[in-house]
Amino acid sequence: MPNDLKVLDLCDVVLLNGPNLNLLGTREPDLYGTDTLHAIETKMMAKAKKVELKLECRQTNFEGELVTLIQQIRSSGAKFLIINAAAYTHTSIAIRDAISAVDVPFIEVHLSNIYNREQFRHHSYLSERAEAVICGFGAMGYDVALDYVIGKLKGSL
Ligand code: DQA
Repeated sequence: MPNDLKVLDLCDVVLLNGPNLNLLGTREPDLYGTDTLHAIETKMMAKAKKVELKLECRQTNFEGELVTLIQQIRSSGAKFLIINAAAYTHTSIAIRDAISAVDVPFIEVHLSNIYNREQFRHHSYLSERAEAVICGFGAMGYDVALDYVIGKLKGSL
């Protein structure tokens, strides 16, 4: 049963996390680390706020909800997307099409190094369209992505 997904408010940057990332902190910590998603999002929102950018964060386990959220990026006014589509990275043409439709620059993030894992994780439907891809840095990858986005939006990059 889909959870109640809050629509995207007006914002500058959107962070989307896909299936099972709500379990960060306890999910395979050797692979994904011990930081919870709440801790990651809280830290990122504070960092964005410091430079007067509004970051909206959403996580969902449902592919269609990710598509809907991506479609809402236009009306939210966001100028950048940071996305960890998790397993849908490797399967979802719908998510790729949604990103192409809204035509928003985006950074693809993975906590683990998807290239030193199973073969089926080596292909991403998103990377070809991404402005940058970050993987293998654990939670730090989200930080790096946000630093880059801040640099872009504030004119220092
Ligand atoms: C992941 C890598 C994916 O292959 C996997 O399905 C995930 C998480 C990562 O952050 O390392 O759920 O996107």
